[in-house]
Amino acid sequence: MKCLCVIGTRPEAIKMAPVILALKRESWANVRVLATAQHRHMLDQVNRFFGIEPDIDLNIMRPNQALTTLTARLLLELDGVLSAEKPDTVLIQGDTTTVMTVALACFYHRIPVGHVEAGLRTWDMQNPFPEEANRIIAGKLARWHFAPTDGARHNLLKEGVLDAAIKVTGNTVIDALLMTADRDLDLGIDLDSNRRLVLVTSHRRENFGEPFRTICQALRALAKKNSDVQFLYPVHPNPNVKDVAHEFLDGLENFTLCPPLDYAPFIAAMKRSYIILTDSGGVQEEAPALGKPVLVLRDETERPEAVDMGVVKLVGPNYERIVYEAQRLLDDDAVYRSMALGASPYGDGKAAERIVDTLRRDLLIA
Ligand code: UD1
Ligand code: UDP
Repeated sequence: MKCLCVIGTRPEAIKMAPVILALKRESWANVRVLATAQHRHMLDQVNRFFGIEPDIDLNIMRPNQALTTLTARLLLELDGVLSAEKPDTVLIQGDTTTVMTVALACFYHRIPVGHVEAGLRTWDMQNPFPEEANRIIAGKLARWHFAPTDGARHNLLKEGVLDAAIKVTGNTVIDALLMTADRDLDLGIDLDSNRRLVLVTSHRRENFGEPFRTICQALRALAKKNSDVQFLYPVHPNPNVKDVAHEFLDGLENFTLCPPLDYAPFIAAMKRSYIILTDSGGVQEEAPALGKPVLVLRDETERPEAVDMGVVKLVGPNYERIVYEAQRLLDDDAVYRSMALGASPYGDGKAAERIVDTLRRDLLIA
């Protein structure tokens, strides 16, 4: 059975790695890896870390590429790849443009698709943009829906997906985290060990422009007010993020901006941090498992489980809420402890195993 696993961006490479490695241990599976390389450096470093070498690389990334151009170029390239490879099944992960275009191209080629991390929804097409549309399209076209949580399964049922096509697996991000977090990890940046660390990441398209400027202003105010706290922000290379972050946050004594950290150093940074401010999906899943309180720089999330547990809080791209909630966590030990529980609603590290079990059963019987 030829299984083509597709990865485009950093989070796809991280969350697909446990599936690729598990599938490669199966005698019935001929595993092929397609990198669209929607991200370049950020993708390559993850593959190096997990020892994964793509068989096909579309090298699709261009600086500041428009979504329509990216989509059109991907579809053209995918036509050729699917015709040449003729896979029995294709696996995709998440909600990027890579995922949406692969699902569509496979539909046209009549190739069954397994969607890893299926069923996440905010029910708001503009937020996150364009990811909500990407995952709805992938969800309409997939044959297997590997839902990370029961909530995600319910979202799919609500959209008319058959229960038999859904498998609740947990999120493979926890598989990857457990394969990594116990190793001797080096952050690779010298930070004052006496200062508490606030770790920041931000890259969402719906925050581009004024919302992201507001986030940066709030971060600046927090850094100025808390000279005893160290801030670390590995900045996403998208120019809409990078240029603004440097404009607002350069030159503060206790604020370090750096290029994106490789996966292992980033896990080290999360482990070393006191609190995390982020709009990342993956970080919202990883940080609670590491016992780190998270303030999410968005108004909505498709990952409500950790919010319901009280270990993640939405603060929006809202100046007052960001400053107030971060300051409360820094000042009030009881508040801090109530959010630093080490809860992991997103998985037990066996998601990839469950995905492979389902594929083995269905593909070998078919
Ligand atoms: C993409 C995904 C988003 C995901 C995020 C994870 C889409 C539309 N967006 O957003 O869902 O949450 O990845 O990080 O699929 N760049 C580099 N080097 C890299 C990667 C990116 O320079 O290794 C720069 C390039 O200028 C590129 C730009 O970032 O054009 C944007 O990349 P793109 O993949 O279109 O969107 P992201 O904002 O990264
Ligand atoms: N990450 C990383 N280096 C960084 C920031 C994040 O390796 O500098 C990892 C993080 O551990 C998580 C993933 O990247 O697994 C999240 O990716 P991102 O935030 O880019 O995308 P999202 O999850 O929002 O789609």
